[in-house]
Amino acid sequence: MSNAAAPAIRHYLQFADFSADDYAHLFARAALIKKKFKTYEKHQPLTDRTLAMIFEKASTRTRVSFEAGMYQMGGSVVHLTTGDSQLGRAEPIEDSAKVISRMVDLVMIRTFEQAKIEAFAAHSRVPVINGLTNEFHPCQILADIFTFIEHRGSIKGKTVAWVGDGNNMANTWLQAAEILGFTVHVSTPTGYEVDQAVAGVRSSSSYKVFKDPMEACRGADLVTTDVWTSMGYEAENEARRQAFADWCVDQDMMRIAQPDALFMHCLPAHRGEEVQADVIDGPQSVVWDEAENRMHVQKALMEYLLLGKL
Ligand code: CP
Ligand code: NVA
Repeated sequence: MSNAAAPAIRHYLQFADFSADDYAHLFARAALIKKKFKTYEKHQPLTDRTLAMIFEKASTRTRVSFEAGMYQMGGSVVHLTTGDSQLGRAEPIEDSAKVISRMVDLVMIRTFEQAKIEAFAAHSRVPVINGLTNEFHPCQILADIFTFIEHRGSIKGKTVAWVGDGNNMANTWLQAAEILGFTVHVSTPTGYEVDQAVAGVRSSSSYKVFKDPMEACRGADLVTTDVWTSMGYEAENEARRQAFADWCVDQDMMRIAQPDALFMHCLPAHRGEEVQADVIDGPQSVVWDEAENRMHVQKALMEYLLLGKL
């Protein structure tokens, strides 16, 4: 178990917490871990380690991928939600961090404000992983880029078209572009633009803003989108439905992209809203690989945070 004399810990709170070298290691390691999983070869470097997962928002993929992944690596998990823990009864996040991190080796949190996960991490004795905040979703982009590499090779120099909300996924794509050397074409409705300060990117050189989503898709190597209304913003649902009506990825957008362009969506998806069924269920879509790869990249991430480069 973790103790007070542990070496300096690293957290994964946003994509920019890691360098291009860290990512090169993680992608190589995830490929190895995936191969072992596919051939039923045991990979259990985290025997007797425990992961606490704290969910303040709903989840399917994040929960299953972290939970199954941790068991596969020989460890175990504790699952907490706001409703069934003292977090929902106003115990300070700092106190929760001090207590939970004395009993487990690693913590994954899905919550609202990024400030909340940062406060937890500041008082944690063990590494903390962002499993989605209002601002970022780094584990998802880790899986998405790993998926791109599997299908098309390096993402360096490529163009990713983001069609939709300037949300946690968009912000994380911008951070990834700056670190890994690709370009994001961003098209959002008015009022839902990305905010460079919130996204935490140093300059605007790795992204371009387009009013017209078709223009954002022109020549793109990857077209990607997300729900119109993210978790926590449900009160804006009706206004967003109207504002986002033209930001639906369809066959015309895929046709204007590169002939071998991929389509990605972090899921859950709403067919007929942000994407047409014939795109997400069509031949250019790699959404099921993306979902599966969450588990493989997160196994590499957990191993890296706890054991370093193996
Ligand atoms: N993509 C993703 O994070 O899915 P869940 O909300 O189901 O975890
Ligand atoms: N932007 C979405 C992603 C869900 C995985 C949300 O935050 O709800």
